[in-house]
Amino acid sequence: MLPVAELHLHIEGTLEPELLVTLAARNGVPLPTTDLGELRARYRFASLRSFLDLYYESMRVLRTEQDFYDLASAYLTRAKAAGVRRAEIFFDPQSHTGAGVPIEAVFTGLSAALADDDTGISADLVMCFLRDLGPDAAMDTLEAALPFREKFIGVGLDSTEIGYPPALFRDVYRRAAAEGLRLVAHAAEEGPPDYVTEALDVLGAERIDHGVRSMEDPSLVARLRDERVPLTVCPLSNVALRVVPTMRAHMLPAMLDAGLMVTVNSDDPAYFCGYVDDNFAAVREEFGLPDETLAGLARNSFAASFAPDLDKQKWKAEVDAWLTGRDGHDRMS
Ligand code: HPA
Ligand code: ZN
Repeated sequence: MLPVAELHLHIEGTLEPELLVTLAARNGVPLPTTDLGELRARYRFASLRSFLDLYYESMRVLRTEQDFYDLASAYLTRAKAAGVRRAEIFFDPQSHTGAGVPIEAVFTGLSAALADDDTGISADLVMCFLRDLGPDAAMDTLEAALPFREKFIGVGLDSTEIGYPPALFRDVYRRAAAEGLRLVAHAAEEGPPDYVTEALDVLGAERIDHGVRSMEDPSLVARLRDERVPLTVCPLSNVALRVVPTMRAHMLPAMLDAGLMVTVNSDDPAYFCGYVDDNFAAVREEFGLPDETLAGLARNSFAASFAPDLDKQKWKAEVDAWLTGRDGHDRMS
C-alpha cells in the first residue's frame, strides 16, 4: 500500500451509515430510516449545497464526547488500511455547538481518540470555520476554542463557498496566526479562482483545499507553480458534488502537467464512495498514472503536511521503498 498523508479529511464526513444508526439509537435521535441501503441511497448530490444539507442533518447524531471519540477511532482504523501515515483532520465545531453540543465534548472526544490511537498514524486536528455563518461567528468560535489550544494545530474554512469570499475572514485568520496556528482554507472548489488569490494574500493560507478551479486562470496557475502552493485535491468528492461531470473530465492530469503541487485526499469519504486509497485507485485507473506519478503525489502529501521534518523524511523513504518494491510488478496489483 502506498504510504500517504491525508491533508483534506472532514471527520464528520467519515460518519458511515453503520455508525450513524448506532449513534442515533444511543442518543435517541430519530432517523428517516435505519436501513443501511436506503441511507446510502440518499448519498446522491446535485451540488455542494445539497451534500451539505444531508451532511449537517446526519451529524445531529453526534452528541457526546464518546460519540466524537468513536467517530475518530473508526476513521483512524480505516485510514491505517488506506496507507495513511499522517492525518491532518478537519472538524466543524460550529455545526455541533449550533445544535447544543458543548465545544468541550468535541475537542476532548476527538483529541482523546487521537491520543489513544494504536494504529501508529501521526494525527492532528485542524478546526474549520463555517464560512456561511460569517466572520463574527468564526471569531467567537476561535475564542471559544482557545482554552483547548494545545488540542489543535491549525484553522481552515469550509462549507458553502460562493458568496463568502476568504477576505471576510481576515481578522480571524490574523488572530489564529498570532496564536501560532497553521492556516489553510477551502477555495475554488465551487467558487472562482480569485478566492484562491484572496486566501493566499489576505488570509495567509499555507495550503489551498481543493483549488481545482484555479485551472481557469493561467496567471494563477503560474503563481501556484512558482510558489509551490500545495493543493489538496479530492477527486471522488469533485465527481460526487458535480464540480466535474465525470472523473474523465477531472483536471488532475492538467494540474500535474502544469507542475502544480497536488495532493490526493478523500474530503468526506463516507459520502463520496471512497477513502484516500480509493481516490488514488480512481485516478490511477482513469488516467493510467504510472507508479512514479503516484509516488510523487504521496511525496507531495508529506512535504505539504505540518508534521516534523524528521517524520517527513522517514515517510518519504517509505514511498521510495514502495516504488522500489513495485519494480517489475503489475501496475494494477
Ligand atoms: N467543501 C466545503 N465544505 C465542506 C466540504 C467541502 O468539500 N466537505 C465538508 N464540508
Ligand atoms: Zn473539504
